[in-house]
Amino acid sequence: MEPRISNLKPADLRRRLLAWYDRRGRVLPWRAAPGTPPPDPYRVWLSEVMLQQTTVAAVIPYFEDFVGRWPSLDELAAADLDRVMHAWQGLGYYARARNLHRCARTVAGELGGRFPDTEAGLGRLPGIGPYTAAAVAAIAFGRRATPVDGNVVRVTARLHALEVPLPGAKAVVAGLAGRLTPARRPGDFAQAMMDLGATVCTPRDADCDACPWRRACAARRLGTPRAYPVRTPGRAKPLRRGVAFWVVGGEDAVLLRRRPERGLLGAMMEVPSTAWREAPWTPGEARPLAPLAASWERLPGTVGHVFTHFRLELEVWAARIDGRPRVDGLWWPVERLSEQALPTVMKKIVRHALAREQPVEGAPP
Ligand code: ADE
Repeated sequence: MEPRISNLKPADLRRRLLAWYDRRGRVLPWRAAPGTPPPDPYRVWLSEVMLQQTTVAAVIPYFEDFVGRWPSLDELAAADLDRVMHAWQGLGYYARARNLHRCARTVAGELGGRFPDTEAGLGRLPGIGPYTAAAVAAIAFGRRATPVDGNVVRVTARLHALEVPLPGAKAVVAGLAGRLTPARRPGDFAQAMMDLGATVCTPRDADCDACPWRRACAARRLGTPRAYPVRTPGRAKPLRRGVAFWVVGGEDAVLLRRRPERGLLGAMMEVPSTAWREAPWTPGEARPLAPLAASWERLPGTVGHVFTHFRLELEVWAARIDGRPRVDGLWWPVERLSEQALPTVMKKIVRHALAREQPVEGAPP
């Protein structure tokens, strides 16, 4: 006999949530209609990798574009990495795109084109962590697995009025949500939890009247659903600063450079810059770090960007020089910058520079 959760048996909770999903679940391009055979594992895997750290709304157009270009795993595996990186442009966290491609090659080359159908097997592939392994195992292969994302944490913490604060609560939530996961339709159950968290039991609101678990929910009974999950006071993200060097050589080419393979934005193209550190840069410190000697002018304003672990504020220094001296990097025509897979922060630098820089005398407007 399974323990009751408040006044409802686990079997009732499962039934209610799945019935709600059948009526109210979101229609998304990587999903099969509720209760129909599971969707193509390739599409499930692709969507789950894209959805790591990215919202559903942002992912949809990228997902459609990817499956249009590469309708199958074999086609993605055969694609050029540069083309994949380019198509990923704007989704952020670019290591995901490199791992996506590596994973496609591993599955196509070493596993005969078939994804492993267990959580453990999936978890051994590049770019597939515990969350994605559980999501793909449940959604594509009907395995009884429980992906725990922010939505599942919130919904479960509220259902049980869990007093353990985050981030420690995640292990407790995994246990509670795992026990509730049904053997039948585990993929629909996982996606129903995600949808409930995204549309009804949201971070800012709890529309309890619309919730299939309203009769069971402990946080609702206490009258304070939004107090869960309990958080320990967080620290604000630290601010880092840097100076980016926008140099145009021979009228129309800007200097770009490839970032180191490892680390943040690994192997992406960038506008050269100093290191990003907490202490502000003085001009005397930044100048020797410029990619070449020139008469640098600081452009008005700054470029801001928020990464997972820090905020970044960049000054942009601009210079124009004759010719294109041989330096570390690549001189690239300004009007063809859209062909480069630049990460969002670099695009912001480009926009900032193009909006503020003085046109050269005699150059076409
Ligand atoms: N977030 C991560 N995976 C998801 C999915 N399959 N459906 C909706 N949101 C998600």
